[in-house]
Amino acid sequence: MPKITVLPHPEICPEGTEFETAPGVSIADALLDHHVDIEHACGKVAACTTCHCIVRKGYNSLPPAGDNEEDLLDRAWGLTPVSRLSCQAIVQNEDLTVEIPKYSINYAKEGK
Ligand code: FES
Repeated sequence: MPKITVLPHPEICPEGTEFETAPGVSIADALLDHHVDIEHACGKVAACTTCHCIVRKGYNSLPPAGDNEEDLLDRAWGLTPVSRLSCQAIVQNEDLTVEIPKYSINYAKEGK
């Protein structure tokens, strides 16, 4: 089973973590299943950017992003060439190293 390494994030995962997951699940679902509470304001339907993650290792193993995902990513905070919406990126057989950006654009949260 592929291993996902999550780099430390000050609020979501201060120590970082590592776990194995079945291929075929989205990165967001794999994270949430392992208590890494990445934001997912739209319910994982590719309509926000709060689940943005940076795939530091294994990026090329992921099926490519669709046009809608690319359009949304353009609005994400801290976009990099290896950014994905974690709800749309499906884990294959390769290990991944994932970084959760320090900030996300969550208008609902900011409006509190
Ligand atoms: S949870 Fe909204 S785009 Fe992934």
